[in-house]
Amino acid sequence: MATVLGMEQAPATTPSAATVTRPRSVERLVQGRATSDGAGVKLTRVLTQDLQRRLDPFLMLDAFGSDSRDDYIGGFPDHPHRGFETITYMLEGRMRHRDSAGNEGLLVPGGVQWMTAGRGVIHSEMPEQEDGRMEGFQLWLNLPARDKLCAPWYRDIGSAEIPEWHGDGVIARVIAGQTHGVRALVQREATQPLYLDLHLAAGARFEQPLPAAHNAFVYVYRGDLQLGGQAVRPPCMAILANEAGSDGIVLQAGAAGARAILVAGRPLREPIAQHGPFVMNSSAEIFQAVEDFRAGRLA
Ligand code: CO
Repeated sequence: MATVLGMEQAPATTPSAATVTRPRSVERLVQGRATSDGAGVKLTRVLTQDLQRRLDPFLMLDAFGSDSRDDYIGGFPDHPHRGFETITYMLEGRMRHRDSAGNEGLLVPGGVQWMTAGRGVIHSEMPEQEDGRMEGFQLWLNLPARDKLCAPWYRDIGSAEIPEWHGDGVIARVIAGQTHGVRALVQREATQPLYLDLHLAAGARFEQPLPAAHNAFVYVYRGDLQLGGQAVRPPCMAILANEAGSDGIVLQAGAAGARAILVAGRPLREPIAQHGPFVMNSSAEIFQAVEDFRAGRLA
């Protein structure tokens, strides 16, 4: 039985249909920037403000991964958000989430926390472990202007609840959107996000149809893969070109297999105004968010 980087691979349940005939090429590789956030949590900021237009509707991607408690133990104490959604995907470790809307949950390995900040929440994300590995991603997904002040929403999705598609040497964990007929628990009409965690055995190939206008990137975090004729080694984000007439993405793992997240979505093409944890459409709305936070109106 083939293994995917130590994971026993389940038998294929659906043949992988060869549906992509004009795959996208890689436009640019991005390494990300080492930084810290919260109370001293070390992380790599892969997608940040300079790429928000290019990767609209995605506003931020942080990758974190460390075996050293000092790198994560401070966690992310109480802080506000307004105007977008945060999607946290854990590979290893446990984090406790609490927010001002009264939600509380434990993020566990393989699980997802999806939070819609909408008009505002104050929340904390704190490690619930004293040592061991902490690894995962936090992605920020924008809300369309009409929904930025919607009611906050929150959902914890346990690892066992995340739908998977199993192909030939491929496991695709479906966090948002759909692949090969397998639909995620969360869908968004305005931005049509696709978020897959791909586990590829050595040499395995994965194809994902995608409209050419949707912005897309692949972040490789284990092994290595070929994408648009280019080798991509971790840790690295490949931004896919939006070539007219392209019909999707094809990736193929190297000899050691690969693990990567594939993220894509329909751009909103609306103005983006960000000030720290607030992302609105204008500076007037940012001033309002700061004022509402100071006056205690976000809790
Ligand atoms: Co937060």
